Amino acid sequence: MSCIRKSANRLETKFSPPGKSFLIKHKFIPCGRIILMGDKSIAHRALILSALASGKTILKNFPIHDDSLATLNALSALGVKIILRQEGLVSVQGCGRQGLKTPRKPIFVNNSGTTLRLLLGVLAGMDFKTKVAAGKYLSLRPMSRVNVPLRLMGARITARIKNNEEYAPIVISGGNLKGIVYQSKIASAQVKSAILLAGLFAKGKTKVIERLKTRDHTERMLKIFGANIVVKNNSITLNPNQDLVSPAEIYIPGDISSAAFFIVLATIIPKAKIIIEHSSLNCSRSGIINVLERMQAKIKVVVFKADKTVNFEPRGDLTISSSKLKGTVVYPEEIPSLVDELPILMVAACFAQGRTIIRGVGELRVKETDRINSMVVNLRKMGADIRINKVGGQENIVIQGQGRLYGAELKSFGDHRTAMSMVVAALAAEGESRLDDISCVSKSFPGFLKTLNSLERGE
Ligand code: S3P
Repeated sequence: MSCIRKSANRLETKFSPPGKSFLIKHKFIPCGRIILMGDKSIAHRALILSALASGKTILKNFPIHDDSLATLNALSALGVKIILRQEGLVSVQGCGRQGLKTPRKPIFVNNSGTTLRLLLGVLAGMDFKTKVAAGKYLSLRPMSRVNVPLRLMGARITARIKNNEEYAPIVISGGNLKGIVYQSKIASAQVKSAILLAGLFAKGKTKVIERLKTRDHTERMLKIFGANIVVKNNSITLNPNQDLVSPAEIYIPGDISSAAFFIVLATIIPKAKIIIEHSSLNCSRSGIINVLERMQAKIKVVVFKADKTVNFEPRGDLTISSSKLKGTVVYPEEIPSLVDELPILMVAACFAQGRTIIRGVGELRVKETDRINSMVVNLRKMGADIRINKVGGQENIVIQGQGRLYGAELKSFGDHRTAMSMVVAALAAEGESRLDDISCVSKSFPGFLKTLNSLERGE
């Protein structure tokens, strides 16, 4: 059981066995400068393409957490030589498109959905059979969204089936793929990326048409590895027979999804000011900044000039100061650019004055947990006025902001983003909160509490 308690002056964090409990003893005004680990989505792609390229690639500011390790271990099991040189520095000896080896046992991807879905794209191109197993949360997440297009390309896939949906474990064998033109009904970068990765092994062009534009890290990364890929509005075409060549070095900018917790923290706590250095600012990911600015948040963005090692992904510094937020409307086409930030955006909306409507949030039901449920349950306990409505098959969240929340008994539901959102909410709330478990933050941000503590300022 974690305990979040507020009183006067100073933030103090304590771990006391047997549960990882942490205690916030004093009024906390977060102030200071932080630099975050590399972006999780970019890290997965950097590892995978480095493995499939010829030559060695050094990955800088590489994040170490459960999910990045899932991809690293999966590629190692496929015979790729990856060395963790020191904190943030990883070297990958690429083995070329045809160099992966049959794994000796099933590959376990833990609870990393991006690892599993992108890996299936790669394995679709292999003429050997692989079994991929997942942890308890990922085993409950739908997989037909990638299996269907990969089968159309020629992969043979069997999965556990329940109520007409497919789930891990999955057995896949491939090779001899053909390119397809695919338009997914679901706005998903993981689906798009799985198809493009399979397209590297296909005869003929592979084209993905997106209804709503999703994060474009795979497209950018394929380009710096020399692939012939053409992006025109929402359609991406990959030309066949792509041998990838290592760019030698890749700098992974700070994770904007991790930054989001600190952006909202600084916004909703009076007198707070946080500077976040070297954050990823890819506009297919930075929707949270646009929406918060619309809510009158004070966020100063300084985008760095592109240089050779980083110009494939924009990055920059953010200065966020405490603000009086107003409600807003978030439209379905904005959702892919902030899908992982919706839990923390719900917290921000509770501290705003007026109504916030977030339209088209249905995908939140199939994340690490059902994040509509996890956030509604927790925020209601804290006194929030939060409702879900369904209009024309589309789920919306409606929050009547009251400028405050109250401490409560909170649950992480085993989900890292629910847990971190609730810590931020509890820090800004009146009174004391308890969170049942914080250990799940190891999925994307093991240093979350340490980073929070580094922002402590005695008053
Ligand atoms: C991701 C895509 C998103 C996101 C996930 C990471 C990626 O999932 O929620 O955390 O790296 O491609 P969907 O593709 O399911 O939207």
